[in-house]
Amino acid sequence: MAKRVGERRGSDLIPSPPKIRSMRMTDVAQVHAIDCAVSAIPWPRHMLHAELGKSDTLDIVCVTPAAVVGFVLASRYADVWHILNVGVRPDHWRQGIGRAMLNDVFVRAHGVSHLGFTLEVRVSNVGAITLYRSLGFIDHGVRPGYYSDNNEDALIMWREGVPEDVVDSDD
Ligand SMILES: CC(C)(COP(=O)(O)OP(=O)(O)OC[C@H]1O[C@@H](n2cnc3c(N)ncnc32)[C@H](O)[C@@H]1OP(=O)(O)O)[C@@H](O)C(=O)NCCC(=O)NCCS
Repeated sequence: MAKRVGERRGSDLIPSPPKIRSMRMTDVAQVHAIDCAVSAIPWPRHMLHAELGKSDTLDIVCVTPAAVVGFVLASRYADVWHILNVGVRPDHWRQGIGRAMLNDVFVRAHGVSHLGFTLEVRVSNVGAITLYRSLGFIDHGVRPGYYSDNNEDALIMWREGVPEDVVDSDD
């Protein structure tokens, strides 16, 4: 008989896979801790709280039974979804969590009119750029000196909305 998730057979417990859900105020401390671990310019907690209080946001977390292990913050401005911040706890890198969370954002955005998705990423952040390109983002210019800690340039990336999501500019 096949083992099910969470089923115990002898001493062998199969761990539950991580789940993705909307971010809650009670997640902010763990999200902030991840951001501090992975970003040179982490968001202050009050910015995370403020983001969660806004409309037109898609703020999600990836959770194991034990902890929050990843997050994405996205906000819709002028019919474009801006991916504002993405982070995965370092001990969970390269397990498909970043990809799964972004795919989840695309699905959640599907019912909302929009022109597409945009983001900025450090030009040196090869891992994130590789992930974004694999998800259909294309390079769309550079913002010189965008990052205040080291004056690094940001690569602007863009991903088209699917046709039924695209808003006619004459509307
Ligand atoms: C970038 C980040 C979110 C990726 O999260 P992740 O869960 O490790 O990514 P995934 O496991 O979903 O990776 C999917 C694919 O992206 C690419 N990728 C991810 N990290 C990579 C790395 N360090 N180097 C090269 N390719 C990488 C690979 O193609 C990978 O597929 P593979 O593992 O089958 O080769 C994570 O590394 C992170 O939190 N980094 C620090 C914060 C950050 O840079 N955020 C983005 C700011 S714009």
